[in-house]
Amino acid sequence: MKMDRWRASARRILKLSSRPNPAPRFTRDHSNPVRYGIVSSGLLHCSGGSCGGIRCYLGHKQSLSDHLQARAFALGASLIQIRCFGSIATKIQRNPKFATINSDDIRYFRDLLGEKNVKQDEDALLAANMDWMRKYKGSSKLLLLPRSTEEVSQILKYCNSRCLGVVPQGGNTGLVGGSVPVFDEVIVNLGSMNKVISFDEVSGILVSEAGCILESLVNFLDNKGFIMPLDLGAKGSCQIGGNVSTNAGGLRLLRYGSLHANVLGLEAVLANGDVLDMLGTLRKDNTGYDLKHLFIGSEGSLGIVTKVSILTPPKLSSVNVAFLACTDYLSCQKLFLEARRKLGEVLSAFEFLDEQAMDLALNHLEGVRNPLPTALHKFYVLIETTGSDEQSDKEKLEAFLVHSLEGGLISDGVVAQDIQQASSVWNIREGLPEALMKAGAVYKYDLSIPVEKIYDIVEEMRNKLGHSARVVAYGHLGDGNLHLNISCPQYDDAVLAQIEPFVYEWTSKNRGSISAEHGLGLMKAEKIFYSKSPAAVQLMASVKNLLDPNHILNPYKVLPQSLSFP
Ligand code: FAD
Ligand code: MLT
Ligand code: ZN
Repeated sequence: MKMDRWRASARRILKLSSRPNPAPRFTRDHSNPVRYGIVSSGLLHCSGGSCGGIRCYLGHKQSLSDHLQARAFALGASLIQIRCFGSIATKIQRNPKFATINSDDIRYFRDLLGEKNVKQDEDALLAANMDWMRKYKGSSKLLLLPRSTEEVSQILKYCNSRCLGVVPQGGNTGLVGGSVPVFDEVIVNLGSMNKVISFDEVSGILVSEAGCILESLVNFLDNKGFIMPLDLGAKGSCQIGGNVSTNAGGLRLLRYGSLHANVLGLEAVLANGDVLDMLGTLRKDNTGYDLKHLFIGSEGSLGIVTKVSILTPPKLSSVNVAFLACTDYLSCQKLFLEARRKLGEVLSAFEFLDEQAMDLALNHLEGVRNPLPTALHKFYVLIETTGSDEQSDKEKLEAFLVHSLEGGLISDGVVAQDIQQASSVWNIREGLPEALMKAGAVYKYDLSIPVEKIYDIVEEMRNKLGHSARVVAYGHLGDGNLHLNISCPQYDDAVLAQIEPFVYEWTSKNRGSISAEHGLGLMKAEKIFYSKSPAAVQLMASVKNLLDPNHILNPYKVLPQSLSFP
């Protein structure tokens, strides 16, 4: 009877799907193939309006140089919204200790790596110098593509001896300006180190090179009946080494925890070229300090991660996705508590977006339609459950939905009945970064805030900015992670002055973090004190000095410049 009422109230409610039918080689943008056991060919929309619909193949079958060229072409198609970092870079002083590349250096790298892995051509450099948002732009003259740990080691040993700055680069999808040079640092991209080394089907432990694209690992594991413990919208381009180096969170952290929990070991090359083998595959190992954690989330500032060992969970057979509307933020918050109580162990994602975010998705994402089309609702919540008992999972979700509807926590909702519906709902959520890029300029803030306060900052920001900019909110509500985005037609220092330092001060005052999952990069290197004590930052600087005394690794990032060049 309760179920009837749910159906009657929300007429669009669809029959709960059990396991959506896997369609072999099904391909779509921003797919979540692992959820449904689909093999994807790795197509990803190249971000931003500037691509003009160009699709870049970013899968592992394409060579890096092809990829970089495709990206360069896409980027070159329009530079209208590009905010080159020049003006701000001038405020950062180039470390005077750094040498500049000369012809002897080029000769050395060509001998070491072979000519085709030493890139100096304009197209390749244009793509590698520019970040995904086209907001940060360096002027490196050299892109290196090592194929082995030994080559990475020789590169760093040489750069250290010559005092050449180095930027480790993965898929270049980072959102804080960490993956591109600030000045003329040498770019070392790990994309050619993309082999799976081993997979243990009993323990689920995967060992791979750092340059493996996340989505290719997803596809590899899918065939074995396992999944990656992390999932994010950039999966078609980001690399596992980049994920580990940023301690990426994403859409599954709620269920499987952070990479600090799932990475069992790694291999890293230090600034002086020493190879640190910590590639353990043990669940438990309490022998001394667990040094791998220093490299997880250190954003390429302490070493280059070359191999990773990671614990992967088994793929479960029953996946359900619900897309729900709430009238206010308090209801979203209560719904989350309810979901934890009623869905318990099957809850695998709890994402939210507000009306502005939905509007942006509908207006800027190709092929997206509103699953609850009568009107725009104030808030939307995407809930995913993943379990092994189809019948019981279904009943649990239904009971939860009915209860929430009766309790007034949700005002409308749909449950995907097949993979296409589930995918189109996920497309809305995962497409938001791209929709923002298409809408123009965006100031992005990635905040950890106690769940009950998450929407307070959004409202305060709206009051502050009035009509001068659009405030768009979404994020991983289940993890207390708000993505606060301020969208304007173009970058405008007057708008920026209203946002900062307010956003950082507010977050600090409310005991949040100014970087929940994206890292500090260049964008927030000087802001670290909003979230960390002076003593902690000083200790970080000591660690940096110990591991990279010449500060060649990812200079100007993560730590304040005053500490980087004492
Ligand atoms: P890059 O962008 O190339 O580099 C990121 C940082 O890591 C840089 O500081 C770089 O120097 C360093 N680095 C890269 N590889 C190595 C290496 N092998 N060794 C040492 N340092 C290295 N992030 C999230 O946390 N959650 C999300 O849900 C999420 N969604 C996203 C969705 C979209 C559409 C986009 C564009 C980005 C998203 N991101 C998200 C941000 C980004 O994808 C992640 O930070 C990702 O982990 C970066 O991986 P990458 O390989 O692209 O690294
Ligand atoms: C996301 O959750 O979509 C990503 O972290 C990217 C973003 O914040 O826009
Ligand atoms: Zn995120």
